[in-house]
Parts: sequence; structure tokens; C-alpha cells
Amino acid sequence: MRDSLIALENVSMVFTRGWLSRERVEAVAGVSMVIPEGGIVALVGETGSGKTTLGKLVAGLYRPTGGRVRFRGQDLWALDRRSFGEYRRAVQLVHQDAFAALNPVRTVYQSLKAPLLHYRIARNEREARERAAGLLEQVGLTPPGLFLDKYPHQLSGGQRQRVLIARALTVEPRLIVADEPVSMIDVSLRLAILQLLRELNRRLGLGILYITHDLATARYLAEEGWLAVMYLGQIVEQGAFREVLGNPRHPYLQALLSAVLVPDPRAARSMRPSPLPEIDPPDPRRPPPGCRFHPRCPYAQAICRERPPALQGPADHQVACHFAQEIPSWRPPSAASPSPWA
Ligand SMILES: Nc1ncnc2c1ncn2[C@@H]1O[C@H](COP(=O)(O)OP(=O)(O)O)[C@@H](O)[C@H]1O
Ligand code: SF4
Ligand SMILES: [Mg+2]
Repeated sequence: MRDSLIALENVSMVFTRGWLSRERVEAVAGVSMVIPEGGIVALVGETGSGKTTLGKLVAGLYRPTGGRVRFRGQDLWALDRRSFGEYRRAVQLVHQDAFAALNPVRTVYQSLKAPLLHYRIARNEREARERAAGLLEQVGLTPPGLFLDKYPHQLSGGQRQRVLIARALTVEPRLIVADEPVSMIDVSLRLAILQLLRELNRRLGLGILYITHDLATARYLAEEGWLAVMYLGQIVEQGAFREVLGNPRHPYLQALLSAVLVPDPRAARSMRPSPLPEIDPPDPRRPPPGCRFHPRCPYAQAICRERPPALQGPADHQVACHFAQEIPSWRPPSAASPSPWA
């Protein structure tokens, strides 16, 4: 693995709500993972598994309640102001909802100009406009003159998402945390946005943490990179994308791949009966003891209800399951085609 840009060490994030009930949600529970410099990592899991929270921890928007986040080896939350500022520039978050993320009364140019001037990447209006035009070209909004003075509501969903990516690029980041960046745009435009991210990775050596509930798009983007599969706040399997998908070991990932368990629970209800125990996804406020997946796992034994399995194995393939070695390896029926996951 290349040098790590960000490393999470046993990171947890607990939210507490309501001062009377003190309801506690451990959205992220002891996650360790590495994001290599210039690498693409896909973080996959169903709704509520803690992906957005993990993305915000990586982007430094949350301070973890347990564990460490390291930026180029240094403890992020022990950095001095200047280094923390550098980190904030180096890691940019791109939201799923571009419409909400863009100020409706600012033109595209005004949205791009603010960070350009703030970080003195451009010294004056003329330079800022040139830079902004260059950025729009980089994200495929050409000719830029057509877009610079438009307001968000005058753009399509795909164009707004490109503006958001251009805004993230203004500060010359090293990593983009893209949280479900295509889930709110038209299906026909999704591939083009993913293509753009892939191209930016190749051309600029820009790292990407791609957060999604959809394995098909994860594979499209991260096939030559890394995959981490999340379940109820924990990583259950991770490693080199091809290695993990070529030899999926965790029963949850196997179920995802066989499309028996659809990552979106709403869609799952309309599916044919599943050989997994039919229960609703467990409540993150009361995670099951032992292995969090045990109520849904067809292989669960007594030990699974008592002891949480550790994430184990070489860096290119780690699994958290007491029976990772015994459970038959399972391959997607047509590994060459993405259709079973689409
Ligand atoms: N700010 C917050 N306060 C309280 N609970 C939260 C907060 N953010 C997320 N959660 C809870 O943490 C869990 C994981 O949420 P999230 O990270 O958004 O998952 P995902 O992005 O995978 O859908 C959910 O149960 C959610 O309700
Ligand atoms: S540890 Fe047990 S319950 Fe958890 S995934 Fe493995 S076999 Fe299933
Ligand atoms: Mg989310």
C-alpha cells in the first residue's frame, strides 16, 4: 500500500441526544482503515451504517469520541492551528445534495471566487475569474463562459454536482470525500460524474473516498483501489477491491453480492424472500451483542452472540468474522459483469 494520507485507528463516534433519556448512538464503533495518498477507497454499506459519520471524521468535521485520526502520520486533533488549516484544505467534502450545498443567491463564479481569494490562490478578481474558468473546464463545464454567471437553479443536477466538485478543487486538495455524490442525480448522468472523479484521480493524483450504498458504482470507481464494507458502525471486510470481491469472506458481503440482501432496506421489502433471517436491520441505538451481524447471519454460532470478532488479516484483505476461514468462499455468479449488483 502506498503512503497513508489519512489513517483511522480504532475510531469511534458516539452521539448523545436528549438530556433526559441520554439516548446514545454509536454511529462509528472502533474503525481502523487507511486512505493512501492518491488512492481511491470505496466505503460501502446500507443506510444508517455510519458512512456519512465516518466521512465527516475523515474530513475533520467531527472530533472522534474514541481513537485517533492521523494525517500524514500526525494525530489530527493534536495539530497546531497552521497544520490543521493545511489539513482542512487538503481534505474536501463533496455532498450528495448539490442544490443544498450551493448558495442559491451566488453565481457559480461567486461560489468559486470566495475560496480562491480567501486562500490567496488568486490575488485579484481577474485572476480569480481565470482560475474559476479553468476549474470549470476541468470538471467538464465547457465553455466556461456559459456557466460562470449562472445561478444554481439554472443548472441541471449533474451540472450542479460538477460545480460542487469544482468548488472542492479550488483549494487544491489531496483527498475528496464524496458522500453519495450521484445518488440524487439522474441515472443517465451518474456515469459521467463517476468518470470525472476517476479522471481527476488519474490526472491530478487526487485521492477519493467514495461513499455509497451501491456496489456497482463502487466497483466502477474503485476497482483498482480499495474497498471497505461497513455494517452498523463497523468495518466487516476491507482490502484491495479486486482481492476482496474475488474472494468475499464475510457473510454480509456475500449476501450483498448475491443481491439477496439489497443495501437499501426499502427496496429489500419488495424483493423475493431471503434465506437470511427476515428481520429489520437492527437499531443502531441498541446494536446486538457479540458480532453485530449475528441476528441476520446464516452461519451464526453461540460464540457469535457473545464475542465480537476482530478485523483480521493482511492489509490487502481483512475480515471480521469468527468463521472467516471455515465459511465457504463465495464468488458472484458472473464476476465479469456488474449486472447482479446493478
Ligand atoms: N448528528 C447526529 N446526532 C445523532 N445521531 C446521529 C447523527 N448523525 C448520525 N447519527 C446516527 O448515526 C447512525 C449512522 O448515521 P450515518 O452516518 O448518517 O449513516 P449512513 O451515512 O451510512 O446512512 C444513524 O443511526 C444516525 O441516526
Ligand atoms: S462472526 Fe458469526 S455471526 Fe458474525 S458474520 Fe461471522 S459467522 Fe456470522
Ligand atoms: Mg449517509
